Amino acid sequence: MSMPLYGGAQSRRITISDLTAAKSLGDKWPMITSYDALTASLFDEAGFPVLLVGDSAAMVVYGYDSTIPITTDDLLPLVAAVVRSSKRAMVVADLPFGTYITPGQAVETATRFMKEAGAHAVKIEGGIEMQAHVSALVTAGIPVVGHIGLRPQHVHSMGGYRVQGRGEHGAHIVADAKALEAAGAFAVVLEVIPAELAREITEAISIPTVGIGAGAKCDAQVIVWQDMLGLTPGKPAKFVKQYADLRNIMMDASRAWAQDVVNGTYPDNEHSYE
Ligand code: KIV
Repeated sequence: MSMPLYGGAQSRRITISDLTAAKSLGDKWPMITSYDALTASLFDEAGFPVLLVGDSAAMVVYGYDSTIPITTDDLLPLVAAVVRSSKRAMVVADLPFGTYITPGQAVETATRFMKEAGAHAVKIEGGIEMQAHVSALVTAGIPVVGHIGLRPQHVHSMGGYRVQGRGEHGAHIVADAKALEAAGAFAVVLEVIPAELAREITEAISIPTVGIGAGAKCDAQVIVWQDMLGLTPGKPAKFVKQYADLRNIMMDASRAWAQDVVNGTYPDNEHSYE
């Protein structure tokens, strides 16, 4: 039986069927990244139906300047923490760069995420060229989310992080989305493409589209939580709307604590034992 995806009952984990049903009901849903126990339990309690342990962890957890360096061994413990700390959300694990070059390698890597970390699904970047990989994963019983448009693992071959699929290039991205659906992916992330192209794709396929910088007509939206809550330093990308200013909140609070330590006013009697 279907239930509201965002904020529905906590009685069981969200499944692929819930996401598929949501598309036919026109029920939009949010997906958010999570890389640790505390955010996983918070976002799960808040009602997010899907948590993504993205390879963006390379940048926001490990401090690299792209997603390329992160390894399976880096990401596995983060996925395990998110699975352990959530009860309702489906947990999707990104397969890192270079770990799914062949369909066989994709199945091997994804199997580690399912068996060792308890992931419920995996995400891979790529379209038509990934059809055999997706179909091998699905045959092995591994649910797959595709990821097309701007593919951060291809930053060097794309010549930077730029809008993809403008003008005549849009047709390639439509073809990618259709190829992923045909291969058995249950959802597809559309990253940084024109809103009108995302609308066309959303109407052309029966699996949910999950937009990030792809306009309002996608079936779902995904965001890196540090961007949305204002923890990431610097100027955010155009598609990021900040709902909090965590960087300044944390800066002020941590400075206040440090100053109290320096002044000798922390800990006071209230925060000390008799
Ligand atoms: O790694 C990630 O966080 C992602 C999202 C930006 C879609 O792939």
